[in-house]
Amino acid sequence: MFTKSEAIYRLRELSEIIAKSRELYFNFNQSDITDQEYDQNISEVTQIIAKYPELDDEFKILNQVGATPNSKFKKVNHLTPMYSLSNGFNKEDIFNFLKQIRSFLDVPESKNIDLVFEPKIDGLSLSLIYKNGALFRAVTRGDGQIGEDVTENARLIPDVPLSIPTEIETLEIRGEVYFPNSAFKELNEELKKAGNKAFSNPRNAASGTLRQFKSNKERSKNLCFFAYSVGSDPHKLADNQKTLLKIFNDLGFKTNNISRVFSNLEQLLKYYEEIFSMRPSLNYEIDGIVYKVNDFRLQERLGFRSSSPRWAIAHKFPAEISITVIEDIEIQIGRTGTLSPVAKLKPVNVGGVIVSSATLHNKDFIRGFDNKGNKIRSGVDIRRGDWVTVYRAGDVIPKIKNVNVSKRNATSEPFKFPLFCPSCNSRVEFDKADSAIRCHNFQSCKAQIIAGLKHFVSKKAVNIEGLGGRIIEELYHKDLIQQPADFFRLETKSNHGLDLIEFLGKGWGNKSIRNLFNSIDSARSIRLDRFLFSLGIRHIGENASQIIAGYFVSWEKFYNAIRIGISKNDGQLLYEIEGVGQLMVASLLEFFSDTKERKKVEDLLNYVKIESFIKHNKIETAITDKKLVLTGSFKGISRAELKSICEKNGAKVLTALSTNVDLLIVGQSPGSKVKKANELGVKQIFEEEFKVLIDTDI
Ligand code: IVH
Repeated sequence: MFTKSEAIYRLRELSEIIAKSRELYFNFNQSDITDQEYDQNISEVTQIIAKYPELDDEFKILNQVGATPNSKFKKVNHLTPMYSLSNGFNKEDIFNFLKQIRSFLDVPESKNIDLVFEPKIDGLSLSLIYKNGALFRAVTRGDGQIGEDVTENARLIPDVPLSIPTEIETLEIRGEVYFPNSAFKELNEELKKAGNKAFSNPRNAASGTLRQFKSNKERSKNLCFFAYSVGSDPHKLADNQKTLLKIFNDLGFKTNNISRVFSNLEQLLKYYEEIFSMRPSLNYEIDGIVYKVNDFRLQERLGFRSSSPRWAIAHKFPAEISITVIEDIEIQIGRTGTLSPVAKLKPVNVGGVIVSSATLHNKDFIRGFDNKGNKIRSGVDIRRGDWVTVYRAGDVIPKIKNVNVSKRNATSEPFKFPLFCPSCNSRVEFDKADSAIRCHNFQSCKAQIIAGLKHFVSKKAVNIEGLGGRIIEELYHKDLIQQPADFFRLETKSNHGLDLIEFLGKGWGNKSIRNLFNSIDSARSIRLDRFLFSLGIRHIGENASQIIAGYFVSWEKFYNAIRIGISKNDGQLLYEIEGVGQLMVASLLEFFSDTKERKKVEDLLNYVKIESFIKHNKIETAITDKKLVLTGSFKGISRAELKSICEKNGAKVLTALSTNVDLLIVGQSPGSKVKKANELGVKQIFEEEFKVLIDTDI
């Protein structure tokens, strides 16, 4: 059998051959090799992957069917963002969800708030835009702001009406596309018979079919669609969610028949149990239940957080659990130097997905303690060779639930965390703040640099497709990529790709190189939030990047605030942002104060154009772009709601007063802020006047 590097070499060869024949077969209905030859190639890949499961992710030969879902779909901006849902995992989470709603809306316990119960279909969301009743465009969710235009394929879905009886000029219907379980079984049997790898679950089958570059009529006929919301202004159709679902039916859409309205939490949770127990008998996969506030007026008041509505929650079903063994514990070094232990597992199927590694978080987790020092797993540690139960948290990152100590080998020993960085050999340090063990050689630890480069190209950052982890490592070791700007110089530096073809090996042909350069080219224009996230600054994750980008809107304004912060040695302009804490500000200033980091960013700016953060529905009001501070309590409205109203009116709500603040809104029993505002000369306004100013009748 192969050594690992031989396996990589052979997989490259096979992936090129298989990709070519798949493309011919699926996109052009032709074959360049016999079915037997195709089968043989696939079985060779299967054998290699069985020995080196970690390569499965890299080459992605087995889990794809048909030609690679193509990035050639036109990218389209959503008319309004497609949000995701926050998750709840138990009754307490749901109880808190309702409590927060009551507090935001200032509604007492004695008054009911109706909630709509809808199954959370495990498919993919789709936005259908109708112009004067005719289907104009169908767009996938994408990153929530920009999706892919899949109109041609969506037209083939029987549940998607091509025209609907409406007078509304532009109507956007959103819902879930899914592959029914029965059709999924049949499809997989056919695929296996034809020597193709089956889809691992119905969700992938739905996604693969909808995102197939060349439409497949037969397969698309199996796709189904449940409508559950509109893109904006639901009032145009109904006053509440329940009625909206009925109206969807009148327009010719299918809606889910499990949906109900409840005004009592106990009954709602009872129905949750009922649906959970009938889950296996449904002809579609559901991974939880969505609860939505029924009344659209209340929904509108509740509004959205950065990525999810306050008026809905997904009550997830308990994760599926499987048993396997830990073959090894490896240490991975992250882009910020954190040493993360990872369990390498004997591959196991967890709820339809093959899992071969699981996070072990940190030293405490391995020892059997949580981050507060409390025992987890009754204090049992985790060792190499242990039999464990694994689950997928929120169906994403695999985690270890428990250890079966009775099956533990008598000779096994507790895991010892390294004292030196496995990559650069610097002594590692324990950071009490987040229980992390960190390599502080930030500038020159190779593993950190490579992790930073991988992060830069990742999907939620600049999203350069076709650059797997191993390829980045090779590009780094071959001295072609040392810092982010190098990706944009790769074409010139690699002799227009000829060098890449030579050293990346046979799997890389002219076509894959061209695709790679195209993908790099499309990253030359990038939205501010993604750009900030791509820099990999510690504590500046996706959410923080969005908040910061939403506040400054343009790179110039952001960078200016940073420059002022550095020159004055004070991040005041950044502290003002609600949701951006001290740790983040300190980290931003530290990053940009570092000449080397700043040079890297400025170098990058020679190649990329940073697009301003798009603000949807920006309205001009008396307080647009004004900086406000609230003090005291307000009549008939919670502070959270008042803040949200100010934001909807285009203002920025800050926590602390300074000379930068335009207006202090004074409620009942205000605190010391009034005095401070007088000293600073900040204008003040009482709540009644303020409500008139922004024309709200709450
Ligand atoms: S409402 C603003 N309702 O869940 C809320 N979503 O994590 C928008 N989903 O991307 C979603 N069934 O793909 C809603 N009955 C349902 C749903 C549902 C499935 C999916 C949807 C969305 C994801 C949110």
